[in-house]
Amino acid sequence: MRKSRKTAGTLDRARPLDHQKAHEIQAFNQLIRMPIALSESAARQSVTNLNQVLADIITLRDLYKKHHWQVAGPTFYQLHLLFDKHYGEQNELVDALAERIQSLGGISLAMAADVAETTMIPRPPRGREEVPVQISRLLHAHEVVLKEARTMARQAAESGDDGTNDLLVSDVIRTSEKQVWFVAEHLVDVPLVKAD
Ligand SMILES: [Fe+2]
Repeated sequence: MRKSRKTAGTLDRARPLDHQKAHEIQAFNQLIRMPIALSESAARQSVTNLNQVLADIITLRDLYKKHHWQVAGPTFYQLHLLFDKHYGEQNELVDALAERIQSLGGISLAMAADVAETTMIPRPPRGREEVPVQISRLLHAHEVVLKEARTMARQAAESGDDGTNDLLVSDVIRTSEKQVWFVAEHLVDVPLVKAD
């Protein structure tokens, strides 16, 4: 049966217009001025800082998932659950940081290759490591985040970007400090059954 011209036109309109390509509408280093009563220099400084801490927190988040999967030994179950809880909390920070960057008119890092090029946290091996080594890696990653986040929080406060300061202090720093406590206590060498 032949299609009428009208039917063919209607079907064309229903067809998904896939395989489209075009230039970016904003390059990574470009900043859009947002009407949030913040100077361009303050927004630019915060976007740069937040992308660094974002790359490090994505890495820390993924380190928790790696260890959640690969943990072994007598404390398997509690660490398996704890590492996944911390993964989830870090994942919420990732979204908050990325959306803060966009709110400031910047562009948030997103893809693994870009994160790998940016993070300051040492790359772990693909293979499996012992629990004390896994925990030591996590603690070092937390310290990288805490050190930079405190410096960045002060810079944000000095430049008048209170929203970024609050996100870094209330969310990034406090979450990280508490997670460090929960993880670090596993490296205290106390007897399980018989006191010294
Ligand atoms: Fe799981």
